[in-house]
Amino acid sequence: MIITIDGYIATGKSSVAKKLAEAIGFIFFDTGAMYRTLTYGLLKHHINFHNEEDLKKFLDSFDMDVKIYRRERLYFYEDEDVTDKIRSREVTEAVSEISANKAVRDKLILLQRELSVGVNAVFEGRDMGTVVFPNAELKIFLIGRNEIRAKRRFDEIVQKYPEQAKNLTLEQCLEDINRRDHYDSTRENSPLVQPKDAHVIDTSDLSLDDVVNKILESHASLT
Ligand code: DC
Repeated sequence: MIITIDGYIATGKSSVAKKLAEAIGFIFFDTGAMYRTLTYGLLKHHINFHNEEDLKKFLDSFDMDVKIYRRERLYFYEDEDVTDKIRSREVTEAVSEISANKAVRDKLILLQRELSVGVNAVFEGRDMGTVVFPNAELKIFLIGRNEIRAKRRFDEIVQKYPEQAKNLTLEQCLEDINRRDHYDSTRENSPLVQPKDAHVIDTSDLSLDDVVNKILESHASLT
């Protein structure tokens, strides 16, 4: 069984997907981390993704690995642990444009579908319920008020990446969220849109447990 969780930035997608997957014994895939790892690879090798031939060569050999260590997911690229690096400002700034590229999406969609074969999984991202798994049994779409999402993102960066947070303000977080929401929703390839058959949950005033419980209640076979 495949469950998809899509939605806007900082609506709690990853935390919800992770907790839900743990609660029901499913595997969890954070597809944003896949786009981030691929972006890291392009930056590492100084590849200009506008050059179709160079991009194709890179994509043909692109691979990544996910390992579980003490219940945390670690992302590896070319045997290097890139778990923190893929959250860097450099990668975050580049990933929106790179993830809008059709060849990049085709490659990762293929990988995501391969990962789904024969497993029970929660896939979290932007186009899971619309493009990658249109026949998923349960689709969730998370939304939230912009100010609340900006505050969440700000708090998360302060807590997890204090170096990055030094020159960051709440206003910058809000601007960044608005810019990325707009970009993700208006891009030509796989824009972020709500699947018609999705359960929509506004997470602004809900705790993580509240959201997970709502999802569990929405699908009888999960409990
Ligand atoms: O969820 P995130 O911020 O880690 O995602 C990183 C970027 O990847 C974001 O700009 C949107 C993009 N993305 C995407 O286009 N499709 C997905 N399925 C997941 C993420």
